[in-house]
Amino acid sequence: MPEETAVCRRLVDRTAVVTGAGSGIGLATARRLASEGAHVVCADIDAERGRAAAEETGGLYVAADVTDPDQVEALFRTADDTYGSVDIAFNNAGISPPDDDSILTTGLDAWRRVQEVNLTSVYLCCKAALPYMRRQGKGSIINTASFVAVMGAATSQISYTASKGGVLAMSRELGVQFAREGIRVNALCPGPVNTPLLKELFAKDPERAARRLVHIPAGRFAEAEEIAAAVAFLASDDASFVNAAEFLVDGGIAGAYVTPL
Ligand SMILES: NC(=O)c1ccc[n+]([C@@H]2O[C@H](COP(=O)([O-])OP(=O)(O)OC[C@H]3O[C@@H](n4cnc5c(N)ncnc54)[C@H](O)[C@@H]3O)[C@@H](O)[C@H]2O)c1
Repeated sequence: MPEETAVCRRLVDRTAVVTGAGSGIGLATARRLASEGAHVVCADIDAERGRAAAEETGGLYVAADVTDPDQVEALFRTADDTYGSVDIAFNNAGISPPDDDSILTTGLDAWRRVQEVNLTSVYLCCKAALPYMRRQGKGSIINTASFVAVMGAATSQISYTASKGGVLAMSRELGVQFAREGIRVNALCPGPVNTPLLKELFAKDPERAARRLVHIPAGRFAEAEEIAAAVAFLASDDASFVNAAEFLVDGGIAGAYVTPL
């Protein structure tokens, strides 16, 4: 981690919609975007956490279930009505429930729920954000995929992985389609992040943690703030020629064969 984060003000007066802003990567990103000067619209299905995120970042909480088309449309409309533009869409809300596991044991209900929250939601959010960005002739969409979209794991979460592959391919296609309208669409592919859930899981089961850590050249999991820094870059004009990318922020996992001892 960088010892000190330089004060960047790349997003002054831009409007950013962040889904899943109440926790983890979304929360760290809401904080980072606000610190760079953006108006942050914090969307979450969890009202308490979403509200707290909005309060802390001086932004606006909008209650939204990202699987509901009407609520997603209302989210982006509220952002535009309140702040006058939709410059950044960080479509990030996602789930990884325990009943999504090996294909041998994962039922259709679990499969469908994960596809709805992780993939259909991104389709809905992009569809809702694009008209504002087209009207403005500019915008940056960042969709949260995952490193599992580009590499396989024997510890499968089959619907999760398939959903993230879908996010990656959809983002690429949209980035290509809308490039000449000034809109960039990138898929963010984080490696495993040191969230409270992951910490708890691996504290209970050090063998499980070691099995994963051995594949990470960096030798550790990411901090949410490191992922947020990548989102801020992709959102900003510093990334003006970064489009339709598979933007890996994974400590080198996807590039590794043998890691340091
Ligand atoms: N944590 C990791 O290691 C990791 C790695 C790669 C990718 N990701 C992806 O990053 C994204 C964020 O993950 P995180 O670890 O910060 O998760 P998290 O569980 O900490 O936060 C997710 C947030 O999304 C909200 N949410 C869930 N379903 C929703 C819905 N239907 N509508 C609106 N909000 C909803 C939750 O209330 C929560 O606040 C996810 O898409 C996840 O798949 C995470």
